Amino acid sequence: MDIHSRIIGCGSYLPGNPITNHMLEEKIDTSDEWIKTRTGISQRHYAGDDEFTSDMAIIAAERAINHAGIDSSEIDLIVVGTTTPDRTFPATAVRLQKALGCKTGAAFDVQAVCSGFIYAISIVNSMIKTKQCKKALVVGADTLSRLLNWEDRTTCVLFGDGAGAVVLEANREGANGTKSGIISTHIHSDGNYEDLLYCDGGPSTNQKSGFIKMEGKEVFRHAVNNLAAVVQEILDKNKLKSEEIDWLVPHQANRRIIESTAKKLKMPLSKVILTVDKHANTSAASIPLALDYAIKKNKIKSGDLVLMEAMGGGLTWGASLVRM
Ligand code: UT7
Repeated sequence: MDIHSRIIGCGSYLPGNPITNHMLEEKIDTSDEWIKTRTGISQRHYAGDDEFTSDMAIIAAERAINHAGIDSSEIDLIVVGTTTPDRTFPATAVRLQKALGCKTGAAFDVQAVCSGFIYAISIVNSMIKTKQCKKALVVGADTLSRLLNWEDRTTCVLFGDGAGAVVLEANREGANGTKSGIISTHIHSDGNYEDLLYCDGGPSTNQKSGFIKMEGKEVFRHAVNNLAAVVQEILDKNKLKSEEIDWLVPHQANRRIIESTAKKLKMPLSKVILTVDKHANTSAASIPLALDYAIKKNKIKSGDLVLMEAMGGGLTWGASLVRM
């Protein structure tokens, strides 16, 4: 019998009080109306000066572990999707390992920007299937507020900080071959488009963390095309029709991109989890934040078929299909 991975718990964390669009109007030349119309964002959260990516990740992880009803000592793999590690090295994941008291297995970070959670799920799913671990923590956590250029209104209004986590457990497939848990993961990248969305700093270039640079319109165009393609790929691979998907949990970057993917899937917005209004683009954290929100609000239930998708800098993109 095949081994597969099942999501047994999730948790999330948003730091501090919400920063509304109106609050940004006082700081830069923008408007609530522009931000809402172009992106669907109403507010975002920023980590405090003494609050790091690992601090947010630890809280989200503890919540996911509690939700799963396991002891953190049972975790034998920790993978953190992040673009904003506490330090250039070591990985933020080892800080979680220490804080959670996990003594066995490995801990490492994955850098795929906004696709970080989908990449991390894909890697961990493969490791569970090949019996390299039994209970894994997959986290998406970012403090993109640290990379914002307040002189660039085209990017600084779009991002926020947060963390989300899931616990994955190795399970044997049911005797009748029932596929529950993670059914399929698909990841892609195309480095030809690096310059459309990047951060102009790095340890080996200028020894700074840098600021976000984005060609918004082009990224938008690629997001719409790549997400439609990867969603079709996952449906074809699993011989599914879009009507069979119960919930779409997309990367929360822009409401218009999400609506476009839903439209291509012929999926009503009532089946789409939308949280971008609440926390803006939190990069790798956005899918687990949205997933946790939907589970805790009793929207996504056990047995539901959930499609997650994301695209980000790299360009990177991917999707994952899960039976909850
Ligand atoms: O997570 C990774 C993936 N990232 C994304 O998915 C983001 C993809 N891109 C987008 O979401 C959109 O392209 C943006 C939201 C970034 C921009 O929307 P847009 O409809 O492409 O706007 P635009 O760049 O064409 O800007 C239109 C106007 C410009 O003014 P003019 O030249 O028409 O007079 C901008 O100067 O809006 C102006 N503008 C602003 N106005 C008020 C740009 N930023 C702002 C702002 N407030 N913050």
